Parts: sequence; C-alpha cells; structure tokens
Amino acid sequence: MLANKRLVFGITGGIAAYKTAELVRRTLEQGARIDVAMTEAACRFITPVTFQALSGRPVYTDLWDPRVPNNMAHIQLSRDADAILIAPASTDFIAKLAQGRADDLLSTLCIAKGDCPLLIAPAMNREMWLNPACQRNIQQLRDDGIFILGPGAGDQACGETGDGRMLEPHELLAELIAFFQPKLLAGKRVLMTAGPTSEPIDPIRVITNRSSGKMGYAIALAAQQAGARVHLISGPTALPAPYGVTRTSVESARQMHQAVMQAASDNDIFISVAAVADWYVSNASTQKLKKQADGAAPALEFALNPDILAEVAALPNGPYCVGFAAETDQLVEHAQAKRLRKKVPLLFGNLAQHAMNADDTALVLFDDEGHEQWPAQSKTQAASQLIKAIASRLYT
Ligand code: C5P
Repeated sequence: MLANKRLVFGITGGIAAYKTAELVRRTLEQGARIDVAMTEAACRFITPVTFQALSGRPVYTDLWDPRVPNNMAHIQLSRDADAILIAPASTDFIAKLAQGRADDLLSTLCIAKGDCPLLIAPAMNREMWLNPACQRNIQQLRDDGIFILGPGAGDQACGETGDGRMLEPHELLAELIAFFQPKLLAGKRVLMTAGPTSEPIDPIRVITNRSSGKMGYAIALAAQQAGARVHLISGPTALPAPYGVTRTSVESARQMHQAVMQAASDNDIFISVAAVADWYVSNASTQKLKKQADGAAPALEFALNPDILAEVAALPNGPYCVGFAAETDQLVEHAQAKRLRKKVPLLFGNLAQHAMNADDTALVLFDDEGHEQWPAQSKTQAASQLIKAIASRLYT
C-alpha cells in the first residue's frame, strides 16, 4: 500500500519512541523506503542502531553530519520525500515547530521541507497535552497545514490515564496509508456486514461457518481510508475493529438483520460481505442438550433466516447495494444468478475453498455488463480495487 513511497521518520524524546521501531517494520512491509532522523533526546530513549538495523539505511542525528556529500542533511532528506512523519512528537518539539525554530537537524529539516507534507503524532502526559500553551501550539500547527495524528487516550507510561498517548503503530500505519489514498468516497456513509454468523443450538453450542472476516474488514478499512464514514456490523471474528471504523458486534443472522435494517436508510452504500447462515435452529434449547441413554441425536428443526441483502436492496431510496458470493463450483453461473435474484447492481464472487480464512483472493466482478476476473492478490489490495470499482460506478 506504500510501494515506492519515500518517507522521513523523525523521532523526538518520548518513551513512545520504542513503538516507532515497530512502526518502521510495519511500514517497510508496505513497500516504503524510510530515512530516520532523531533528536538528541530521542537517542536517550532508543538508539540510532535500532533504526539503522530496521530501516537498512543510515540514521541522521546531527546537523553537521559529514557523511552527507554537501553537508546539508536538513535539505537533502526532505527533497525527495513524499512525507515526513514525526512520531513521537514531544511537547517541546511541537512548540519548536509552532515557533519555527531550527536549532537541531530535525527541526531544521521541518523548516526546510518546502511543500513536503508533515504529519505529527503527539505523545505526552495528559496534563501536558491539555496545557493551554500546548493546545495553542497544536492549533498553530493545524493552521500551518501540518497534519495531527491522534493523540489517543488511555493508560500512560507515567501511571496516569487520559489523552496524550501516541497512536499505536498499526493506527499510525493506517493513517499513513490513508494519507496517500485518493478520497474516492469523501463524505459518503458506508454500511457493511462481515464475518460469519453464529446460530445457537443451546446456550453452549452454535452452528457457524469458516468465514474469518478478513475480506470484509479489509474493505471497511479501505472505505474509511477513501474518506467514507464506515459502520461495520460484524459477526463473531478474532479481528480487532479496523482503525477509524465504528463496529457493532452481533452473533446471529437475525441480530445482524435487525442492526442492518436499523441503519440502512442512513447510508449511501451497503456492502454485504458477511457469510450469513441461511437457517437458524427454530427449536434451540434454553438449557444444555444432554446425551440420551439410547444414543438418539437431538432433532434440530430449522427455519429460514431473513435475506438481509435482498431486503436492503428492495428498500425504496435505499443505499447502493454490493453483494458477495462464495461458491465451491460453477462460480460464474451461481454468482450471476444470485446478483439477479437479490437485485443488486454489483456483486463479487470468489471460490470459498481458496478465499475463506486466506490472506489472498481472486475476485470476480459481476454487474449488468457481464463479469470480469481480477488477479489473485492480497485482500487489502483487492479491497482497494473494489472501492475504486464502486466509486467509479457511483461518482464519476
Ligand atoms: O449466502 P448467499 O450466498 O446467498 O450470500 C450472498 C450475499 O447475500 C452475500 O452478500 C451475503 O452477505 C448476503 N446474504 C444476506 N443475508 C442472508 C444470506 C446472504 O445478506 N440471509
């Protein structure tokens, strides 16, 4: 997601600096190149050697670095960068940026950056964050066109609790990726379902399926990164809520149906990725079913679940509906029939035996024009292509 992006990571003096090591790893995995510049205080929390080993490139700490041919690291570093990220950004460094001071390599680099975008991830004690001087400086940075990421709230290294924590590495990575994404769904509201459903047999046992939720969660994140406000209604999965997405957790298809119908009319787009159970157990027991002395199996009875997607697609003035179909065979025939039966303009199919619980998928797009096979790719990449396909149909 960050292929060919050249980034400068600035690290200032704060205990959250140790998390930036993980952020460097995760960002490199997305294909970026990273040059690291550290302040003197940052080097007291974590050593340049750590970042040199992780980034595979020399680390810059000194305005007078003799390794840089023209001795102008502060100019050189930002000239071919796509963005600069300061994480953690200390109270002192934020004040420096607000005042335009240039008394070390990193502050000078930020002044000399020209139109290279600057993003900062504040990290400090909650009282420091709330201090009027700090808030004034943050406002000044916003006015200067600097992007402020977070801060988050929660437990702090000092033992207090409140605002001022640096965002977690996976959150900062999501912000970085989002920063470079075209805002194809800016201001749009997207409702989604993802994951399996779980139908109770008794208070202990359920009927469920192999859906991991990975595809739906990747699409939720891609929609959020494309500028949409995303509400994800999710069956039980092991996945954390995608960053910046509102998640409602449900168990059964009927709970999912209720949550979706409540929200459907407030949304522009509905993407139904969940593997919804077709039937629920209509004689589910309120007590644990016990083995019978004669070995007889319990006689389960089934009733049809509501078809959530078909119902949303039939709403007058409802959202633009996108369906999914996981098949084991005759994908094109089954998926095409499903799209027509549920009356949705767009549907994506894949082969369940390849896609379920996997990190990659080969989607087939079905619409009024016919179908189009996409290559096997990561679900993250497929999600971004899918958002483009939706946006191009709706908004261009
Ligand atoms: O289960 P089926 O293959 O029919 O699913 C096709 C599409 O319909 C998927 O988008 C799925 O999320 C949706 N669906 C639904 N409610 C159901 C069954 C499926 O919304 N009860």
